Amino acid sequence: MTRAHNEKEPPAHPLVDLDSVSRVYRQGRVEVRALTDVTLQIWPQEFVAVMGPSGSGKSTLMNLIGCLDRPTCGRYLLDGENVASLGDSRLCAIRNRKIGFVFQSFNLLPRMNAMKNVNLPLVYSRGPLRPRDACRRSLEMVGLGHRLRHTPSEMSGGEQQRVAIARALVNDPPIIFADEPTGNLDTRTSQEIISILQRLNDAGKTIVMVTHEQEIAHSAKRVLRFRDGRLESDEQVSERTMHDWAGSQAGGGA
Ligand SMILES: Nc1ncnc2c1ncn2[C@@H]1O[C@H](COP(=O)(O)OP(=O)(O)OP(=O)(O)O)[C@@H](O)[C@H]1O
Ligand SMILES: [Mg+2]
Repeated sequence: MTRAHNEKEPPAHPLVDLDSVSRVYRQGRVEVRALTDVTLQIWPQEFVAVMGPSGSGKSTLMNLIGCLDRPTCGRYLLDGENVASLGDSRLCAIRNRKIGFVFQSFNLLPRMNAMKNVNLPLVYSRGPLRPRDACRRSLEMVGLGHRLRHTPSEMSGGEQQRVAIARALVNDPPIIFADEPTGNLDTRTSQEIISILQRLNDAGKTIVMVTHEQEIAHSAKRVLRFRDGRLESDEQVSERTMHDWAGSQAGGGA
């Protein structure tokens, strides 16, 4: 169990609270145990890296804690609420308010420009009164104030991922889940994305990020390692090593 840093008073409950959660996929008569008996808590303002070999259950975990999927057994409380008991529309509303998602493949709509892509979560929620301002602010936060009308094919990979981060931020959710957000990016662009996530974490967002790279994991405050669907280790990172490195490189970005 880990509590957030720099907090005057510890928060009353974790944002993510998994108790003996398992997920079994069934394909005909074949069962795949993707996650087995996972118990863990994630507290507000943590920055957690999720690591483990391919097939160890990282994306399955992200889908569960991001409410895109439900556990086969076990209990999940999201910000104190038992999400298993919620109907689809209530679940969708909670997901929209509390969670922003960033995927390895960006998942932007190709025909829409940056503003319109970032606006998408607002279409599904009663978002801010001035959605255009919110979209512009969100894009400015990731350094893309000069690319508002560009479509994905008119942007670099790093810029596309920054649009995806802006989209995840536009509803101002407390949690950002990122499944291999730098998996399709070169080292330098990965550094830029990580330093954006670190800035968001410094500003109070809780970040949970899957990565295969040790160096990137060390930009987090805590590292969870999975193997064969089980939580193998849960360690605090003594020092965030990437911040200075990323900061020193960020000047020349995009
Ligand atoms: N929809 C599905 N149906 C059946 N099996 C699945 C399904 N999704 C995942 N699996 C299986 O569950 C296990 C965990 O998959 P998961 O995608 O969580 O792994 P991962 O750690 O994210 O791997 P990677 O690093 O390759 O992304 C794997 O054995 C995978 O084949
Ligand atoms: Mg995966």
